[in-house]
Amino acid sequence: MSRLDGKVAIITGGASGIGKGMAMAFVKEGAKVAIVDLNEELGQQSIKELQEYQPECIFIPANLAESDKLKGIVQQVMDTYGQLDILVNNANASRMKPFEEITQADIDLSFNTGFYPTFYLMQAAFPYLKESKGKVINFASGAGINGDVSQGTYAAAKEAICAISRVAANEWSPYGINVNLISPIANSPGVQKWAKEEPEYYQAMLSKIPLRRLGELESDIGRVAVFLASADSDYMTGQTLMVDGGARKLR
Ligand SMILES: NC(=O)c1ccc[n+]([C@@H]2O[C@H](COP(=O)([O-])OP(=O)(O)OC[C@H]3O[C@@H](n4cnc5c(N)ncnc54)[C@H](O)[C@@H]3O)[C@@H](O)[C@H]2O)c1
Repeated sequence: MSRLDGKVAIITGGASGIGKGMAMAFVKEGAKVAIVDLNEELGQQSIKELQEYQPECIFIPANLAESDKLKGIVQQVMDTYGQLDILVNNANASRMKPFEEITQADIDLSFNTGFYPTFYLMQAAFPYLKESKGKVINFASGAGINGDVSQGTYAAAKEAICAISRVAANEWSPYGINVNLISPIANSPGVQKWAKEEPEYYQAMLSKIPLRRLGELESDIGRVAVFLASADSDYMTGQTLMVDGGARKLR
């Protein structure tokens, strides 16, 4: 028996990067996965790869910044599978800027694609996660934990996600719902783009990773997500796992 046999998961941002790595790791452990993403082309491509392991995976094209669509995403998953066991809030977008140049539009981008979808998808999923004694996995960042330069809006949205994850972990523990966070470093398209735009900043980040490499999307981050999605982590909630090659240590 595989670790996620019979489980149904939603993974936002599952068309590429860490989201896709987690989706691959989940299907190889028996889960049925609904990936939600803005990028239809990559979403369709990912779903074909996932379906080689699990024919019942689906792609839901959506812009998570459209908050009125979020309940419908959860409803579509319930209509398709009749259950929801795992919610992974992974997608987000942001712009790097010096603090004094940040505009309302920059703040909105980070919060509308990261914080609000995480918050509202958790609310929409709650009745079903209560039934399944489910798992929520949210995404933090070392940028927020450390206060990295030029990451004002991203850091703020990420720390807000950490805060609501801890609140929900406390409020939902009586229902057997676990809420945990991953703070990753991994070789995603987002990081590759950033490395081209900010080569010095990228090299500085790399030099601070004790394990001397970026994480692999599926084998490093996806496998930790499998752990947080499975019964193996039943006695953990409200925690942030640093899956970042040792770059940052929480006390
Ligand atoms: N990669 C890293 O080193 C790193 C470091 C710290 C934190 N993180 C966090 O891990 C998570 C995944 O990161 P990644 O590097 O794989 O990201 P990425 O930018 O490579 O991929 C993000 C995915 O989300 C999708 N997406 C973006 N905006 C969307 C929207 N509005 N609606 C629907 N889908 C949308 C994109 O199409 C893409 O498929 C993010 O929460 C990120 O902040 C990553």
